[in-house]
Amino acid sequence: MQNITVIGSGTMGNGIAHVFAQQGFQVSLVDLKEDFLQKAVSTISKNMDRQVAKGKLSEEDKTAALSRISTFTDLKSGVSSADLVIEAATENLSIKLDLFRQLDELTPKSAILATNTSSISITKIAAVTQRAGQVIGMHFMNPVPVMKLVEVIRGYATSDEVTNDIMELSKKLGKVPVEVNDYPGFVANRILMPMINEAIYSLYEGVAGVEEIDTVMKLGMAHPMGPLQLADFIGLDVCLSILRVLHDGFGNPKYAPCPLLINMVEAGYKGVKSGEGFYQYT
Ligand code: CAA
Repeated sequence: MQNITVIGSGTMGNGIAHVFAQQGFQVSLVDLKEDFLQKAVSTISKNMDRQVAKGKLSEEDKTAALSRISTFTDLKSGVSSADLVIEAATENLSIKLDLFRQLDELTPKSAILATNTSSISITKIAAVTQRAGQVIGMHFMNPVPVMKLVEVIRGYATSDEVTNDIMELSKKLGKVPVEVNDYPGFVANRILMPMINEAIYSLYEGVAGVEEIDTVMKLGMAHPMGPLQLADFIGLDVCLSILRVLHDGFGNPKYAPCPLLINMVEAGYKGVKSGEGFYQYT
């Protein structure tokens, strides 16, 4: 696998493009608008500058990595020679199903189709293609250049061969892949989101304030960020939608999103990206 197409150039998409280009892969980055793509390439360049400043990447390697990234607004041109497509578009079921129908038509028959979804069923996505055995989850963590994990999710029909290829490829990226099966929230979010939800309940019920809750988890459990700050970082709308997938998928009230989280998202408080969540960012 040498030619990698990443669909969606937002935070996750540009991070995924960054690590593949840095490890010597040819990357095609696809998005709907030219300005999204330009912004993404400039973000990748700035994030590589951090690595240069720390002595983890040379200027020459940065220039070479950036030269391996091509950008496309036309899906067909962006995927025509892909060995692997990683979809990192908006976390919306109908958008993803529509994209995978098109990818199945437009990519070489041998291409593996991966999704970076944080909670949508891989099996459901695979079922709209004629190559369910070649559809898999490749769940990167934010910030992608820093976080070591790739959660590799096998859909119901994903083949052993494709799973092994993606495990090996993730290692070549310098990541640590972990293979999991396709059930709601997979492993990462099945465990992370109830913790975040419980932190929001603790705030909602007046057990403690925002900073107190985060300090307990940062200093008491050595988490790099407290759960409320992490929720802001992930996006409160994303947290809510993942909790709804868990709640619907298991039918268990323990996953019901806290009413405070629902209110905040409905009021437009989505965390870092909207300028305010549990903390203010402007
Ligand atoms: N690109 C490249 N390098 C980056 C970077 C980026 N986007 N962001 C941070 N860095 C580097 C910094 O340069 C720094 O490098 P050194 O260690 O060499 O100094 C290092 O990462 C740490 O960054 P900072 O010093 O700026 O800040 P920090 O120490 O507070 O760490 C953090 C920032 C890495 C984000 C840390 O707070 C952290 O690990 N937070 C938790 C992140 C987390 O849990 N992510 C998973 C979220 S869940 C998810 O993504 C999936 C989902 O489905 C919801």
